[in-house]
Amino acid sequence: MALHRITTLPGDGTGREVMTEAMKLLQTIESNSPMTFQITEIQCGGQHYLETGEEWPEGSFEYCRDQSDAILLGAIGWPGATMPNGDLAGGQVILGLRSGLDLYANVRPIKLYKGIQHKIHGDFKQVWSPGLVDMVVVRENTEGLYQTLLSRSSHAAQGIPYPSVPEIEIPGMDGEFAWDPRPISRKGSERVIRFAFDIAERRSGTPSDGTSRVSCIDKSNVTRGCQLFRSIYLEIAENHPDIETDMAYIDAFTMWLVRQPEFYDVVVTSNMFGDIATDLASTLQGGMGMAASANIGDDHMMFEPVHGSSPKYAGKGVVNPIAMLSSVQMMLDWLGRRSGDADATVAAEIVESAIENQVSEGGTLTYDLGGEASTSEVSEAICARVASMLATHYTSA
Ligand code: IPM
Ligand code: MN
Repeated sequence: MALHRITTLPGDGTGREVMTEAMKLLQTIESNSPMTFQITEIQCGGQHYLETGEEWPEGSFEYCRDQSDAILLGAIGWPGATMPNGDLAGGQVILGLRSGLDLYANVRPIKLYKGIQHKIHGDFKQVWSPGLVDMVVVRENTEGLYQTLLSRSSHAAQGIPYPSVPEIEIPGMDGEFAWDPRPISRKGSERVIRFAFDIAERRSGTPSDGTSRVSCIDKSNVTRGCQLFRSIYLEIAENHPDIETDMAYIDAFTMWLVRQPEFYDVVVTSNMFGDIATDLASTLQGGMGMAASANIGDDHMMFEPVHGSSPKYAGKGVVNPIAMLSSVQMMLDWLGRRSGDADATVAAEIVESAIENQVSEGGTLTYDLGGEASTSEVSEAICARVASMLATHYTSA
């Protein structure tokens, strides 16, 4: 019987609330399947920084690195929680882990479930049906516009000073200016693009006609980094003749994403473009309350809902827990993949069905999906479905 070591980082605001629900789900799985979890919670984030003067306790990074099979993160970021140098307080947690653990692929599935209405306003309700939105965005997670900040956070997390950006002079730039380099490497691009093709190999193609396709989204008409990224994409695509190639500039992509989501299967892009595009894409799946993600590296993995700490709703018990429960679902799936624990794969499939059934069979929903239920009512309803499906599975098995 495999024991899975899970480190939880509730973080800020509603991250803490949805983490409580994630724990109910893990408990439900433990009580109804052979799976066992060893859970360690670490307090962290912007609020923790305001309260204690540190982003997380010393040794937390090492704990995540050395003692965890998977990390589950709530949300990082709180109004007014800024470090003396201007960095996001809690950045060491989210960015330090992404970079320090080399979690190079940020995987963000965008799927519209039956029973959920997308969030695009206007007369498009008939045009999009659930079967037309089902893609995975793979966002490069360790370099690009985030590279300096990521490295700073990662160095800080490991107690190593980060060298400052060298002083430079740029003709025509007089007076004060800020400088954000955007390094894109062959190594960083190759590994994330390969990862995207691997995902496409495992999926069943686009919702429109089942074509397997990896779309490379860049701005190679303007930036050198994107030119490198695209040329590596084309090299890797050559080894996957069964997968259709597709390339678009990020500006045009944002339009196509909304106009014809059914065209997309797997999308691969650089860090900041992926950050922006996935917030937009979440509207196609019913909003941020539905958006889950995985940060995957070769040796480590971390899972988190995309929505952030939403200070406006924090403490009210009303936010949608599904993004977090779906992130747990991704965690179970990856634990199954990496540890070979078949029970984790079973649990992942069951959690996905439970969520799907909850929304399509008229189960209670939170305000963002037109319902009136609280965060815990929705998650407890989903947990009840999980419990009964697990019971059925293990008694008939
Ligand atoms: C995300 C978030 C983070 C990011 C922030 C909190 C640093 O927006 O996970 O998308 O920019 O990557
Ligand atoms: Mn974001």
